[in-house]
Amino acid sequence: MAAIALWAEARLVRPWNDVSADFRRAILGTTSSILGVKDADELIGTVMVGHDGHRGWVYYLAVSSIRQRQGIGSRLMGAAEEWLHEKGAVKAQLMVRNQNTSVTQFYEQIGYENSDVRVMSKWL
Ligand SMILES: CC(C)(COP(=O)(O)OP(=O)(O)OC[C@H]1O[C@@H](n2cnc3c(N)ncnc32)[C@H](O)[C@@H]1OP(=O)(O)O)[C@@H](O)C(=O)NCCC(=O)NCCS
Repeated sequence: MAAIALWAEARLVRPWNDVSADFRRAILGTTSSILGVKDADELIGTVMVGHDGHRGWVYYLAVSSIRQRQGIGSRLMGAAEEWLHEKGAVKAQLMVRNQNTSVTQFYEQIGYENSDVRVMSKWL
């Protein structure tokens, strides 16, 4: 599937995540979606959005490597924010893996700032 291939190319896929299940859940859910940008028939960018009833979350933002630095990532984030705002979210949040240092400048450029929180998690 094109979206999953894009996530893999962008190194967003981890062995412990079932990406096909992530895709299906986001598409079928009433509080989530996956937005995409196409050039002709080719998918060149995606972002997953979800509203948890309190905050809006963004996942799987990826732009095809040969199409980066052309404003596509910013446009996708703008569309994600619009989607979340329409669902009633007042704040958009996202998680960046500690190793993914290069992306910080991108998020700062579009108005995101570091949150003074630690994310804790548990597999269910
Ligand atoms: C992060 C990502 C989606 C950005 O998409 P993009 O289409 O290249 O971003 P834009 O062209 O809209 O960039 C907007 C601005 O952000 C900044 N920026 C973007 N990528 C940057 C980089 N690698 N290094 C420094 N600044 C960067 C620049 O200021 C840029 O403006 P400029 O090109 O005029 O200088 C893309 O690099 C990507 O797919 N990365 C791999 C996947 C990933 O890490 N996703 C995020 C997971 S949290």
